[in-house]
Amino acid sequence: MDGSLLLAIDQGTTSTRAILFDATLAPLRVASRALPQHFPSPGWVEHDAEDIWAATLATLREVAEGVDAARIAGIGITNQRETTLLWERATGRAVARAIVWQDRRTADHCARLVAEGASPLITARTGLLPDPYFSATKLAWLLDAIPGAREAAARGALCFGTVESFVLFRLTGGRVHATDASNAARTLLFDIHRGCWDEDLLRLFDLPAALLPEVRDNAAEFGMTDASVTGVALPIRGMAGDQQAAMMGQACFAPGMVKSTYGTGCFALMNTGPTAVASSHRMLTTIAWQLGGLRCYALEGAIFVAGAALQWLRDGLGIITHASEADALSRAADPAQRVILVPGFTGLGAPWWDAGARGAILGLTRGTGRGEIVRAALESVGYQTRDLIEAMAADWPGGAPQILRVDGGMVASDWTMQFLADLLGMPVDRPTVLETTAMGAAWLAGLQAGLMAAPGEGAAHWRLERRFLPMMARAEADERQGAWRGAVRRVLSEAR
Ligand code: G3P
Repeated sequence: MDGSLLLAIDQGTTSTRAILFDATLAPLRVASRALPQHFPSPGWVEHDAEDIWAATLATLREVAEGVDAARIAGIGITNQRETTLLWERATGRAVARAIVWQDRRTADHCARLVAEGASPLITARTGLLPDPYFSATKLAWLLDAIPGAREAAARGALCFGTVESFVLFRLTGGRVHATDASNAARTLLFDIHRGCWDEDLLRLFDLPAALLPEVRDNAAEFGMTDASVTGVALPIRGMAGDQQAAMMGQACFAPGMVKSTYGTGCFALMNTGPTAVASSHRMLTTIAWQLGGLRCYALEGAIFVAGAALQWLRDGLGIITHASEADALSRAADPAQRVILVPGFTGLGAPWWDAGARGAILGLTRGTGRGEIVRAALESVGYQTRDLIEAMAADWPGGAPQILRVDGGMVASDWTMQFLADLLGMPVDRPTVLETTAMGAAWLAGLQAGLMAAPGEGAAHWRLERRFLPMMARAEADERQGAWRGAVRRVLSEAR
């Protein structure tokens, strides 16, 4: 059948993937490229815009090769969020490396904002809080660091965007400078209640409006790719931040449904429907999606290190050679030892929000070996998730969720998923297709193309692969969680 294929681009923190889906959202072809990371200074993380672009184009071409363009109903773009790019409008050339969401260089700027009492305004408008995680202070940093940038920005010669916006600009041959509501909601500059850029915040961060992309619905006509760039002109019809896209891929379309994605970090999002629930427990309030001008909101808990802890065990400590070894090592570890790893390598995210915290391993004895340390890394994912789920349950009038849907690379670990169910005391559902982020982007493009039913009209694409049921006694789960929180308190910074 013509026009029934969907092509998703998932530009993530550590890799770029393109996936071709059929109209039932079954993946047909996958292409992937690793993304080089740059750490020019402690706490700094950068990506080269040309690496992002080269990988996007290469993966897109690879999955589209030999496919009749008429069969592709649309492209959906999804991306690592908050990562900040600044490029020349005339040439599309980035004026510096992208500052990645994990980068902490603007911690002092954020601390100043807190000290000056800006937090209530920021939270009321954006649902976020002053933390280097988000884009605005990164953008201000770039404008200050690059000679002439402020002047060029003021006369409209520069474009700001997060990754989706940069990729769209390049794909359309520089014709479209736009973003979507879910990505705009992560910049610290977007009023999530009115659905527009906020002038008070632009003033607060000293940023000119001329830099900003136009904000569109998540399913929209974003433009055609430039045939001289992609070989053939294809319509771009969907766009969303990767965590929001994963919510759609996980079919969390009803209020109260929660998904948690385990990639580099871990991001748990709860659908709160048309209500932007203000958190009293340091969760984020964010836009899940905007369709037909109507916004659906989410409560989000963001933690910075999940899979990255395994990368550190592999690349930093060299005590595993592949992440897949972690399950067997954890099973074989001494059950009597209670080693706790607090992975605060880049500070701690929700609910602690402490940019100055650092990691720690507690409870070491002479009998501690690599098994116990590896197990502690996997367990830290469970503990952090429970902190998020409890905070959300306390914020959400509907109370605790009934089930957690999980995805991302780390959920391949049965051991981790069982531990998660044990700690949470709730079923953990793993779907058959784990490419939920790309699936969400494809779903948006399909919705715009008229291939998909709107949310609430069915979620035919989601299938359960395995349900993990809690087996641990509640008293033990609670006691372990208490010990974890005690360990976290020991690494929090004094400045917090
Ligand atoms: O907010 C950051 C998040 O979007 C990054 O996701 O999967 O690229 O690590 P990921």
